[in-house]
Formats: sequence, structure tokens, C-alpha cells
Amino acid sequence: MAILVTGGAGYIGSHTCLELLNAGHEVIVVDNLSNSSIESLRRVSELTGKTIKFYQVDLLNKEKLDTVFGQNNIEAVIHFAGLKAVGESVEIPLFYYHNNIGGTIILCEVMKKYGIKRMVFSSSATVYGMSETTPITENSPLSATNPYGRSKLIIEEILNDLYVSDNSWSIAVLRYFNPIGAHKSGRIGEDPNGVPNNLMPYISQVAVGRLKELSVYGNDYLTLDGTGVRDYIHVEDLARGHLKALKKIMADSGVEAYNLGTGQGYSVLEMVSAFERVSGKLVPYRIRDRRPGDIGICYSDPTKAERELGWVAEKGIEEMCLDAWRWQLSNPNGYQELSNTSSEFENPRLIVM
Ligand code: NAD
Ligand code: UD1
Repeated sequence: MAILVTGGAGYIGSHTCLELLNAGHEVIVVDNLSNSSIESLRRVSELTGKTIKFYQVDLLNKEKLDTVFGQNNIEAVIHFAGLKAVGESVEIPLFYYHNNIGGTIILCEVMKKYGIKRMVFSSSATVYGMSETTPITENSPLSATNPYGRSKLIIEEILNDLYVSDNSWSIAVLRYFNPIGAHKSGRIGEDPNGVPNNLMPYISQVAVGRLKELSVYGNDYLTLDGTGVRDYIHVEDLARGHLKALKKIMADSGVEAYNLGTGQGYSVLEMVSAFERVSGKLVPYRIRDRRPGDIGICYSDPTKAERELGWVAEKGIEEMCLDAWRWQLSNPNGYQELSNTSSEFENPRLIVM
């Protein structure tokens, strides 16, 4: 029996595939490679010495997705596939809704056809909107401030409706806080397209000399040093959270949301200092205006995940920064130099279907 991972070639997906393989699961990946490279999966199979079956399939292509389910003995799905750039979602909302919501509906329809009713879904802390109270629990009010966030909220509601219609579904909705870092080997990591929007890849690219300076968006928030506070979580801790959620959905039916965060907030300037400490590099920065739509403080209450999944984040910010830096140093241009068809080595363990 295999686990199907949609979006498995992406940042969080590739780290989760690695954890799944190391835990002895059979892994099948479906990804259209719209925001990733097959090289990530080649490296995951290299790191684990295990086989991955890969289908370059778009979730919107129901016929091809059906073939994937027809050809394999799938027991559960971990669903990462989606578009995630907030700014872009404001510019092309219909495309975001079509891809994220449409893709999820088609996936659920095919799962239903094959009687596979177990899913772990990638949601986001963005569903808490401009939440004013911290720490944020799963019962905090939900809202969306942009089409990306709204697509996550709508998908959560669709999954709830699906469960109401058929109580044999078993779904874990994981609300990630701010995933950063990389696998400690430095072989897989975050590879954003163009200039990064998010803090940690931006800091890494300044430190490596690819970007000139960091813009710190606002120093007049009600925080220790005035800069925004977030709950950064190591991507390996996050990946482990998926295995715990998988275990839960194998045992119980229902639909439950879980915060995956550390419960600890750090400011932008604290992150800059931690990064400078571990890398030995200076990260020049300039204070700018607040970024529209940003909130001052956002961190999780992760106790539900600890209580019900037996999961806690273990890695601190220095390890997150060190691992992000190792990845950046050994892959200054990400996976970019390697095309989706060539590789620095042939890997017979990656089976491209
Ligand atoms: P990512 O872009 O690296 O991975 C997403 C993958 O999905 C990519 O490989 C992309 O090619 C694939 N994809 C997109 N649309 C597809 C489609 N229609 N069919 C098949 N494949 C498709 O992003 P990530 O950071 O790994 O995020 C994974 C998930 O977690 C996303 O759903 C994202 O919204 C969510 N999330 C991410 C963060 C974050 O900060 N990285 C935070 C909260 C939630
Ligand atoms: C972003 C996304 C959000 C997503 C979350 C987790 C936006 C607007 N929101 O939010 O949907 O759920 O990531 O992945 O993109 N900062 C700087 N300079 C920079 C970049 C960021 O000062 O160049 C600051 C921000 O103002 C914020 C903090 O760093 O205080 C973190 O920013 P970022 O990494 O973009 O994450 P979020 O704002 O939490």
C-alpha cells in the first residue's frame, strides 16, 4: 500500500517524501512541476536509497489522475499541490481558485471513486486572517485577506462538507505557521522563483550576495523591537508532523484541524541576528514601511497537535537558520541549473511514469 503525495516535488512535499520513505512507506508523487523541479525527488531517492514513483500530472487533468489511482494501491493522500504566492493570487485570483480549489475537488472525486477516504491537507495560518489575539488556537476566528488565503479557507470548508456527507472520510487539516530551513544534508531545500517574498529565503540570498540588502517591513509594531513577529518552524519538524497526522487518519475517521508551529514567536531582527550568528555573514538591512496586509504578531498554540497527534516541534531558530544557510551555500541558484530532464547523475530509483 502506498501514500500518494500531491505536490511532492515542492519544498515541503520533498521533505515529507523523505520522512515517509525513511519510515518505510511506499511513495507515489503527482506534481505538474509548475513550481518545482524533479531534481528534488532525484535527491530524495538518493538520500534515502529508496524508490519513488513520479507522475508529472496536473490535478486538473482528471483522466490522468484517475490512471494514477487505477495503477496503484493507494491507502492515503497527502495533498500539498497548490499555488502559494499571496501577491500573485491578488493579480490572478481566478487562476488561484481554479488551480487550488478545482484541483482539490477533482482529487476528492477521484479518491471517492476508488474508495480512498484518507487525506492530510496543507492549510496555512493564513486562514486566521488578521487575528488579533495570540497565541492562535484552532478555535480562533477564521477569515481571509487575499485569494490565496480564501482558497485555503474554502478548501477547508469543502473537506468539512465532504465529511458531513460521508462519515467514513478521515481528514487532517494542517495549518502551517512559517516553514523555513532545509534538510540537514543541504541537498534539498526551498527554491523560490525570482525574488523571494518571504523573509528567510530573502535573508539567505542577501547573505550569499545574490541580493543587496533586506527590507525590514516596519519597526513600529507593538513588539520587542518593533519588527513583525512570526512562528518559524523547521521544515523537517513540519514534515514529521505529516507522518503523525497520517498515523491519526489511519486510526480514526473525522475531520480535524491542527496548528503546526513551535508556539514561539521571533521578530524579523531576531531572525537576522540568529542568521548572522550561524553563518558568520552580515545581513545588511534597511527599515521600510509596513508591508500592506501584514500583521504585527502571529504565533501558534500547538498544544492540540501535541495532545492528539503526539507531535511537537523540536528544532530552534539557530538550527533553522544554519540548515537554510547550508542549503543556500551549496545550491546558490537552487535547482535552477539542472533542467527537468537532465541530472548530474542517473538515479534508477526515481521511476518516472
Ligand atoms: P511549493 O510550491 O514548493 O509546492 C507545491 C507543489 O505543488 C509544487 O511542486 C507545484 O509544482 C505543485 N502544484 C501546484 N499546482 C499543481 C497542480 N494543479 N497539479 C499538480 N501539482 C501542482 O510549495 P510548498 O511551500 O511546498 O507548499 C506546499 C503546500 O503547503 C501548499 O499547498 C502551500 O499553500 C501550503 N503552505 C505553504 C507554506 C509555506 O510557507 N511554504 C505555508 C503554509 C501553507
Ligand atoms: C507569508 C504569507 C502567508 C503565509 C505565510 C507562511 C504574505 C503576505 N503572506 O506571511 O500567506 O501563510 O507567509 O508561509 O506573503 N519581512 C520583511 N522583509 C521581507 C520579507 C518579510 O521584513 O523581505 C517580514 C514580514 O513583514 C513579516 C516577517 O518578515 O513580519 C515574515 O514574513 P513572511 O516570511 O513573508 O511571512 P508572513 O508575513 O507570515
